Amino acid sequence: LSIAVFASGSGSNFEALVNQSRRQHWPEDITLLICDRPESQVLERAKRLGIPSAVFRPSDYGGKEAYEKELLTLLQEGGIQWILLAGYMRIVGSVLLKAYRWRIVNIHPSLLPAFPGKNAVEQALDYGVRWTGVTVHWVDEGIDTGPIIDQKPVLVEPGDTVEQLQKKIQFVEHHLYPAVVRKLLTGKILPPDAEQHGENKMEGLN
Ligand code: GRF
Repeated sequence: LSIAVFASGSGSNFEALVNQSRRQHWPEDITLLICDRPESQVLERAKRLGIPSAVFRPSDYGGKEAYEKELLTLLQEGGIQWILLAGYMRIVGSVLLKAYRWRIVNIHPSLLPAFPGKNAVEQALDYGVRWTGVTVHWVDEGIDTGPIIDQKPVLVEPGDTVEQLQKKIQFVEHHLYPAVVRKLLTGKILPPDAEQHGENKMEGLN
């Protein structure tokens, strides 16, 4: 059983996750990178780190459902148990959500529910917040709406540019994301359905 990371961009979180998984001897390894953009820097990182990668573009498959079904086959063949989104710029659809319910996690560069979606760092600067941060959350049908697992604040200093703030946020991300994943793998953080199990039973009785 193992972990797949989905990424579309520079891949600094991907690299942080791989490095920590090795350093800390996680019970499950990162064995696959899924990328939807052939020109992404993350693919070079995967090569350097010795992680197999697959480039999957929905445009090659005639529709999101067909694309996700292909992807699902690949994941299942690879014994993938967890999906970590790390700068993956696509909304996960119903095929993957159903197959990996509460097994997909995302990292977002703001204190959700503030500033969901794209350009979260820019949104926070434009709004003029004093604090922003990082959120790790379960993935559901919405855009950055799933239950929050953990958060860390980042101070916005006067005069910060998007690049400067992004740098501070990414530094925090590279520590928080691996720490949370480790807790998930070792059962120190449970999926939302496990926590709600008792409540659901109670509802059934009413
Ligand atoms: C991160 O800031 C992450 O929070 C967001 O996308 C960015 C990806 O950066 N979802 P990188 O590709 O890991 O460097």
